[in-house]
Amino acid sequence: MVFWNLSKVQRGFNTMSSLLELAKSNYSSDPVTKPLRYYEIYEQALREEGLSPKFILEIGVYEGESTKALAKCFPTAHIVAVDLNLRKIDFSGYENVHYLQCDQTDSAKLQSICRDNFPDGVDLVIDDASHIGHLSRLTFNSVFPHVRSGGLYIIEDWGTGYWDTWMDGGRFTDSIVPGSADKIAKKIPSHHFGMVGFVKSLVDYTATDDIAKNQAVAHRLTSRLILYAGRFRSLRNIVERMPRVKLWLTGVHNVPANTQNTPKSLSHAELPRLKSLKFFPGVCIASKA
Ligand SMILES: C[S@@+](CC[C@H](N)C(=O)[O-])C[C@H]1O[C@@H](n2cnc3c(N)ncnc32)[C@H](O)[C@@H]1O
Repeated sequence: MVFWNLSKVQRGFNTMSSLLELAKSNYSSDPVTKPLRYYEIYEQALREEGLSPKFILEIGVYEGESTKALAKCFPTAHIVAVDLNLRKIDFSGYENVHYLQCDQTDSAKLQSICRDNFPDGVDLVIDDASHIGHLSRLTFNSVFPHVRSGGLYIIEDWGTGYWDTWMDGGRFTDSIVPGSADKIAKKIPSHHFGMVGFVKSLVDYTATDDIAKNQAVAHRLTSRLILYAGRFRSLRNIVERMPRVKLWLTGVHNVPANTQNTPKSLSHAELPRLKSLKFFPGVCIASKA
């Protein structure tokens, strides 16, 4: 028992209370702050990764409620908490918190904050700022390269993408999939507004092996021709009627289903690598490979 406690102290956890319990003791029920169930999700995610974060970046602080819960739970962690608008928050007693002004879209400033504070990488990032898809994606692009292998990048409130009233949200309509499969559609329609579109785009980064395979294939001349020919429906129909040819094409040359998912600006080597991407109501957690 003594050894168990000791190892917890060494790993930086507050041995007395869980993140959820600490958050409860501080909870204002102000709707702008996160609901308590998020803390439960974070705690579980950290446990599953065996991660006790020593370097934490929180983007979106508001009155500091979540920052204080994190600071109490991880008393030996170095926590940088940034917000567009600095408020008068009493962080006395929270010496491990560094509260800074920063716009989540200011890539240069975010990167310099990361370099200065987390030279060996950041363990935990929580983006609880604007909840606007485009801005959150900019933040991800700036900060994710600074997350260390095994670290977590958490995106809060992605459900705003389903809100008609939200700046970049839109009402959900379920996709109608044809009952038969005589004609294979290349796209399955999917809700892609705002934050929903952003977090779904991260699925690409869990498929880097397939993307690499596709890119390797696309380099060969024959494959390029096949890709080109595949764009013409009549040719596709002919191939569909010749199972042996189809097998040869798909088996040997691995004709890719879709070449448009690779972001044009990033080479395969530059793509972020995700170990996993987990979705919860309101919370999306990317773990870095
Ligand atoms: C939902 S609140 C944060 C709540 C806090 N994390 C908590 O759980 O108690 C969102 C915060 O993000 C900040 N914010 C909004 N847009 C931002 C931006 N572009 N860059 C940085 N912070 C931003 C707001 O000022 C606000 O304080």
